[in-house]
Amino acid sequence: MKINKKMLIGLHLGNGYGSQSGAWRMPGVDPMSYTSFDARVKQAQAAERGKFQFLFLPDGPGAVMTDIETEAPAFNLDVMMTLAAVARETEYIGLVATGSTTFNEPFNLARQFKALDVMSQGRAGWNAITSSGEDVAANYGRRIPSSEDRYGRAHETIQLIQSLWGSWGKDAWIHNQKTGQFANKDQILPINFQGKYVSSRGPLYIPPSEQGQPIIFHAGGSPNAHELAGRFANVVIGAAFTIEDAKAQRNIFRASAKSYGRDPDEIKYIPGLMTTIAKNRRTALDRRIKLGGDSLIQRLGYLQQMLGVALDPSRINEPISKVQLDVARPSRYDPRSANALKIAKEGWSLRDILAHGVIDYHPVIVGPGVEAADHMQAWFEAGAADGFWISPDVNADGIDAFVNEVVPILQERGLFHTEYEGKTLRENLGVTDQYGIDPRV
Ligand SMILES: Cc1cc2nc3c(=O)[nH]c(=O)nc-3n(C[C@H](O)[C@H](O)[C@H](O)COP(=O)(O)O)c2cc1C
Repeated sequence: MKINKKMLIGLHLGNGYGSQSGAWRMPGVDPMSYTSFDARVKQAQAAERGKFQFLFLPDGPGAVMTDIETEAPAFNLDVMMTLAAVARETEYIGLVATGSTTFNEPFNLARQFKALDVMSQGRAGWNAITSSGEDVAANYGRRIPSSEDRYGRAHETIQLIQSLWGSWGKDAWIHNQKTGQFANKDQILPINFQGKYVSSRGPLYIPPSEQGQPIIFHAGGSPNAHELAGRFANVVIGAAFTIEDAKAQRNIFRASAKSYGRDPDEIKYIPGLMTTIAKNRRTALDRRIKLGGDSLIQRLGYLQQMLGVALDPSRINEPISKVQLDVARPSRYDPRSANALKIAKEGWSLRDILAHGVIDYHPVIVGPGVEAADHMQAWFEAGAADGFWISPDVNADGIDAFVNEVVPILQERGLFHTEYEGKTLRENLGVTDQYGIDPRV
């Protein structure tokens, strides 16, 4: 199989509105997108038009709410239902859902993801995470187990699930109407997996998809997460604010893969990028200001801590004075601080500094498409990323903006493919074939 040397791009598909909490109230946005599977399908189709390799659906599982009075929950109603709807209306784009190894029975996960893989003709990926929030655990009447127990269960769960995926042999399905043989029973065998945390007899009665079985993704930053991903994952969904940090993280995952006897190129590190794409910086900032509303200004106190200088809310429309900028120092405790100071030194008003998204949870591009393309090129060529997962501010028009304004630049620069390599997620990610467990690990 041809190894993909160009960057990979995924789309963050969450609550149907976009990554900014004010997205649900923007003009042109259907306020009922939260429950609209049609909206998700339309957004997936927009990403497919842009040749994105995959959709990434985070999950708690369940919503983690900060303020239901004014904000939409951040997650899908149900990630597998969304992807089933999307699978029927798209042809090429990969379908990646988060599924907790702590709060699911492995047999159920194995069955749902392989059914999705068959339904989508080989486009499914499973983001195998252990869950870490007590608010999620409370939905199951539980407390979060220790890291050792969560990751212990995760290692067993992935092995068990891959065994179930392989338990229906690759060539077991005969379906010969003339001879009357439906399947070769000698190739459909129980797995009799007995672990410390999880067990299953099997088999799973689902034949292979066009890509054999789903691809494993992981998202997490702890040493235990590095190890789990290095052993099983082909893609890591990451979060990093600087090239140096992304590079370091990517290298850790690559080293971990190597320690399990794998080729480091088998694991792709994909950090996030948030986007507000408009014709110029000013228009983009104004869009962010409209999106942020009052909540933007409430972040001034935090910006003050990032820069180490007192900021006066009554001067929200003025730049930071030269005297203050001279003494400002980026906080050691927040990796976003250096970027915030850099923006401040460009002379933007306090409101505009905040509108640059300097306190968001991934790097943010607020400006014309070329700025996003430059960011992605710099990180990709520095060996800091194998691609990016994109979180548009407002999905209703933000996906199209990225597809129309950023993708063509990346393609012209030879950094992004112009056609899908094939129809399966493995082909499009350049991931080698696997059926059942990986015998090397
Ligand atoms: C970019 C990124 C995305 C993540 N997405 C999810 C998610 O959708 N659901 C989830 O439960 N955890 C998610 N996580 C959290 C991790 O899976 C993990 O629980 C967290 O990093 C705590 O790590 P630890 O349990 O290894 O200490 C994500 C982490 C990162 C870095």
